Amino acid sequence: MRRAIFPGSFDPPTNGHLDIIKRSLPLFDEIIIAVLNNPEKNPMFSVEERCAMLREILPEIEIGECRLMIDSFQGLTADFARRKEATAIVRGIRAISDYEYELRMALMNRRLEPEIETVFLMAAEEYSYVSSNLMKQVFMLGGRVEGLVPELVEERMREKINN
Ligand code: PNS
Repeated sequence: MRRAIFPGSFDPPTNGHLDIIKRSLPLFDEIIIAVLNNPEKNPMFSVEERCAMLREILPEIEIGECRLMIDSFQGLTADFARRKEATAIVRGIRAISDYEYELRMALMNRRLEPEIETVFLMAAEEYSYVSSNLMKQVFMLGGRVEGLVPELVEERMREKINN
């Protein structure tokens, strides 16, 4: 059984996240999308809202044989991965600028849980500049983000700023 977690803030989920999920599906039997509960970071969406968005978006993608689950966690990613008996942590790399941060995290996670390997997948070029933070910033300032986040996410962001 090859079980992986794909941890992240997902505040909000982007098409870049979906691209990484799609690429990881053929590699594992089970993937847990692990949404970090990080209220101190003052997220736009609560962890429940982020999980709910993922739950609505994910059925739209062709998942094949892989079992895809959504969960949230607090504390260390490495602890969560061990508790879930995962053997891999999936992370997406967009550009060389991601590398240093990801390398530090991967090495620290390896030190914490030597049996769990971090697997890096390269995002599609068209999403190489897409991050949740950039999407929020552009959207809040009235810019267009269609094609970069799922339509449902755009709607939820619109609801947020109208409330
Ligand atoms: O989507 P993000 O914000 O880039 O995800 C970052 C995340 C959630 C993977 C990272 O912040 C994390 O693992 N946080 C949990 C706390 C932890 O394990 N910190 C040590 C990492 S070595």
